[in-house]
Amino acid sequence: MLVSFRRVRPDEVDLLCELDVKIFGGDGFESPEDWEGLEIYFIVTDQEVVKIIDQQIVGSIAFRHHSDISENYEAEYPHLHNSLYLVSIGILLEKQGGGIGSMAMTWLIEYARKHEFTRIVSNARKSNLPSVKLHRKFGFETTCTIPKYYEKPDEDAVVMELNL
Ligand SMILES: CC(C)(COP(=O)(O)OP(=O)(O)OC[C@H]1O[C@@H](n2cnc3c(N)ncnc32)[C@H](O)[C@@H]1OP(=O)(O)O)[C@@H](O)C(=O)NCCC(=O)NCCS
Repeated sequence: MLVSFRRVRPDEVDLLCELDVKIFGGDGFESPEDWEGLEIYFIVTDQEVVKIIDQQIVGSIAFRHHSDISENYEAEYPHLHNSLYLVSIGILLEKQGGGIGSMAMTWLIEYARKHEFTRIVSNARKSNLPSVKLHRKFGFETTCTIPKYYEKPDEDAVVMELNL
């Protein structure tokens, strides 16, 4: 299986919202405004099925340049030069656990190095073990937690950072 990353086109934002709600449920970005200012890619798998290439969108990854996590969900994003803020990484449930998240993280780290970012910052719900473990696997370290960053249900965010 080949995994590739292609930029989400403006006419695909509704599809992106639909995919995100499918992956993240209540935490999903459900309206086009939620994606404003982000660089967004679909994560696509290529599989040869009886000599036909079957292309499937299996997730997305979105990040913000020269940015950092804000102190709460509604606040403005602080500007921080050379810092890449990973806003979202998500794989469809039926495709999870097969290494696609790791391929996306490898791709992101290469992207960040290529564009001369010196750090990647990310966050997850404290209870989101798969996400925290994915980040740890790639050397991210927890720097702090932000109390009640998430809503419905209220939950702390774990902030993780990788210095490049
Ligand atoms: C987090 C997520 C992106 C990981 O993607 P994935 O394709 O399942 O990840 P991989 O199969 O490459 O697994 C990578 C690592 O994550 C961890 N992991 C993945 N699934 C896990 C699970 N169910 N329980 C515990 N750890 C898990 C493991 O450490 C794994 O490494 P290993 O296989 O070498 O042990 C995926 O679970 C997802 O989309 N979840 C829903 C959306 C979400 O919560 N995104 C993160 C928001 S911050």
